Amino acid sequence: MNRTRTLLRFAALFALVGTFIGSHMAGAGSYALKPMHAHILVVGWLSLFAFAVFYRMFSIPKKSKLANIQVWTAIIGSVTLPTGMYWERMINEGPLAAFALIYYIVGGTILLVSFVLFFIMTFVFSDQINDRE
Ligand code: HEM
Repeated sequence: MNRTRTLLRFAALFALVGTFIGSHMAGAGSYALKPMHAHILVVGWLSLFAFAVFYRMFSIPKKSKLANIQVWTAIIGSVTLPTGMYWERMINEGPLAAFALIYYIVGGTILLVSFVLFFIMTFVFSDQINDRE
């Protein structure tokens, strides 16, 4: 997998979806989608873009499972956190409410795992992460 390209494409997709939701909110005059808009853009667009730049700048080994899991939990979490946040707020009753809560918790945790792995990687790949001479 080309991590930079994969992250960049997903970042661009989230940018598109997030700004589209923003335009819809502005046009409709209803801000119900605001948390989803904000998180799709800040997590999906900005964080994935930052991760793409990270993998482009530093030579993280292609075979690293740690890095691959970091990338995929970031991408999946960028979908599951914003959608979980939205459904959990919107569905208040019935069996779907419990499902929405569990989805929100699991979805948010997936994203959290990605950020924890990223933190760990800054130590595991110390040799690859250097200032330019
Ligand atoms: C087509 C472009 C965009 C449109 C039309 C748009 C529209 C909006 C609207 C209508 C709101 C609600 C404002 C309010 O509560 O008074 C909002 C909130 C927000 N937007 Fe956007 N937005 C756009 C792009 C972006 C981008 C590129 C980002 C970040 C990279 C972003 C991040 C946010 C955040 C974080 C909030 C929440 C602010 C808060 O609650 O204080 N938006 N946006």
